[in-house]
Amino acid sequence: MQTEKLWSADAKNLRPSAIRRFAAMINDPKIISFAGGVPSPATFPSARIAHYAEKVVRDNAAVSLQYGPTRGLPALRDSVAAVCAERGIACDPATQLLMTTGSQQALYLVAMTLLDPGDVVLVELPTYIGGAGAFHARRAELVGVPQDDEGIVPSALEATVVRLQSEGRRIKFLYTIPNFQNPSGRVLASKRRTEVLAIARAHDFMVVEDDPYGELCFADGLDTTPIKKNDEEQRVVYLGSFSKVLAPGLRTGWIVGEPKFIRQCEIAKESVDLCSGMLDEAVIAAFCAAGELPGQITAVRSFYRDRRDALIGALDAHFTGHATWTKTEGGLFTFVSLDDGRDTEQLLAGSVERGVAYIPGGAFFVDGSGSNTMRLTFAKETDERMREGIRRLAELFFQTT
Ligand SMILES: Cc1ncc(COP(=O)(O)O)c(C=O)c1O
Repeated sequence: MQTEKLWSADAKNLRPSAIRRFAAMINDPKIISFAGGVPSPATFPSARIAHYAEKVVRDNAAVSLQYGPTRGLPALRDSVAAVCAERGIACDPATQLLMTTGSQQALYLVAMTLLDPGDVVLVELPTYIGGAGAFHARRAELVGVPQDDEGIVPSALEATVVRLQSEGRRIKFLYTIPNFQNPSGRVLASKRRTEVLAIARAHDFMVVEDDPYGELCFADGLDTTPIKKNDEEQRVVYLGSFSKVLAPGLRTGWIVGEPKFIRQCEIAKESVDLCSGMLDEAVIAAFCAAGELPGQITAVRSFYRDRRDALIGALDAHFTGHATWTKTEGGLFTFVSLDDGRDTEQLLAGSVERGVAYIPGGAFFVDGSGSNTMRLTFAKETDERMREGIRRLAELFFQTT
């Protein structure tokens, strides 16, 4: 049967990830890959996870192998509320917190709860592709807001909002990743966090703050305080995740929001998966209850800090005078712009021939700009291979030796 004729308008509007097509290159061991967007398996505390997995199955299969509460295991919610409190976010685990199957599901549930076709979502230029995908799935219109080295430019945000509202458009929320953004690696400056929230308040839209990288901070004293911390009127929805500090295979994230909003997302989640994987939740709950999370975060930070140093050092050595890039202070990425404006998508085939892969940056810009940019991760390769990869790219791009 030709099923297409019966597909829904929503299904036809779904967009495949523009970067998943690079998966083959990322996984080819012969290629030095800056293209991945995933954590290094070297950071997974595998033995500890195996220990807790065995324990929760052996001691409590009636919970860990059973369906569970849609909101998530109470013990895990308590631990996540404590994590949030450390980040400055007060939340009642019973009413203001919903566990999700990764923060990707959180994005989908937020989109399901807030968006009608034609609604406007403001996104950063560039933005996370999975966020854009979740909003497109609801047939929203994504409008880009420029960033500079300090993140979203508040005056540009305000001008965009005023223009859209004067055209009668309905802006539902701003989607922002203030800490070590994927893909740009940037941090939204402290003063701007206050300004962004003030603009949202003045023009009455919500803020969806996605913060999977906030804990991966390499610099002492850098302000990564969530916007949510100063959100007195519960206008901000905050998303967190265990993927980058523990392991993405455990598929566990969360949403913090006002109680009615959380309840509505919970109902949406019931129709998506009833509940998240209880085995995943039970393992993380046991890991957190044993006090292992802070040590794990310290280890992961130090692992990526060293890798970041190697990549930025290689860029300093080979790209200086030809390109600019984010002086990344956390997360997994740096973002490069070529000074001569050449299209990095067109340069990719030549790079792969020379055994090096990256993600062309254009895919992250909803306005079609950014063709001279590229995202590089320092999560995948050894220091030595990164240095060699950057040397080869410089040779190809700038004819340096
Ligand atoms: C900004 C951002 N949000 C959300 C996610 C989804 O993460 P997860 O569903 O594993 O929690 C990612 C994954 O890379 C991301 O970079």
